[in-house]
Amino acid sequence: MSRAVIEAKNLKRFYEVGGGMFRQPATVRALNGASFTLEEGRTLAIVGESGCGKSTLARLVTMIEEPSEGELLIDGRAADPRDRELRSTVQIVFQNPYGSLNPRKKIGSILEEPLKINTSMNAAARRAKGREMMEKVGLRPEHYDRYPHMFSGGQRQRIAIARALMLNPKVLVLDEPVSALDLSIQAQVLNLLMDLQKEMRLAYLFISHGLSVVRHIADDVMVMYLGRPVETGPVEDVYAHPRHPYTTALLSATPIADPTRKKRRVELKGELPSPLNPPPGCPFNPRCAYATDVCRQDFPGETGEGAHRFHCYHPL
Ligand SMILES: Nc1ncnc2c1ncn2[C@@H]1O[C@H](COP(=O)(O)OP(=O)(O)OP(=O)(O)O)[C@@H](O)[C@H]1O
Ligand SMILES: [Mg+2]
Repeated sequence: MSRAVIEAKNLKRFYEVGGGMFRQPATVRALNGASFTLEEGRTLAIVGESGCGKSTLARLVTMIEEPSEGELLIDGRAADPRDRELRSTVQIVFQNPYGSLNPRKKIGSILEEPLKINTSMNAAARRAKGREMMEKVGLRPEHYDRYPHMFSGGQRQRIAIARALMLNPKVLVLDEPVSALDLSIQAQVLNLLMDLQKEMRLAYLFISHGLSVVRHIADDVMVMYLGRPVETGPVEDVYAHPRHPYTTALLSATPIADPTRKKRRVELKGELPSPLNPPPGCPFNPRCAYATDVCRQDFPGETGEGAHRFHCYHPL
């Protein structure tokens, strides 16, 4: 039996914005109720268009921010940013490999920093651990004394991954970790992540704009729209039989080489509404070809078969 390392129940995060001289303050519902479980050694992909709340979810799970509502358990314990051990349990890798490494520090001290702050390891032990981690991510020992600007985007992402692993986390939150990289480099970094996962029994929360990248790396996928998960399930089920019209639309826009799969084409029409002013009911209704009155009134409850769940009055 696998153990849940992250359990989220109805997580929400709102931001108050505006409130200038002539404007009323308003509430952005960046994350509007996300529930999911991530098990040890598994990968859950979070997929959706820009602004749907993926990075907000990442900031909650890594305890960079606290939820406005809802419950978050990490490794079976209530999330608490003051809990040092829990903070080491979940680490994050950001999208931009150019902005996330301090340009004035050598790779060695970038890697050793989390150990300096969080452990009582001495300099020799820190150095040994840093070198071990560099080797694990495919960097050479002589890279230890170099600066970030001397590395390519792919190598920098390897460094960011090594840094995230220094405290032996159980969970890595990967916020679009390969989106900024060339296609050929993307595959190398994804392969590295899959190898590391096996070796270290890591759980990944893998955030992505599109469905194509996550197909091979994820076990489960959660599709989000305007702050809400709309469909969740094992990758094979969701790709073969998407039930929510939004998932179908995302898949239509995804080039996947699989001639056996009958592709139902659903075009995504119209603009993504603002989370400042989401449409009532199902947030996808203004763009949905199947929408009826009920869709404009209430957000649909969860239905589905087994682990494949969705929120839709008119599933496909
Ligand atoms: N600190 C904040 N204050 C106000 N609004 C915010 C804040 N952070 C995020 N938002 C808003 O919340 C919504 C969700 O943002 P988020 O960054 O989580 O989306 P995302 O899915 O990560 O998008 P992208 O794919 O572009 O990275 C957006 O409308 C964003 O403008
Ligand atoms: Mg984001």
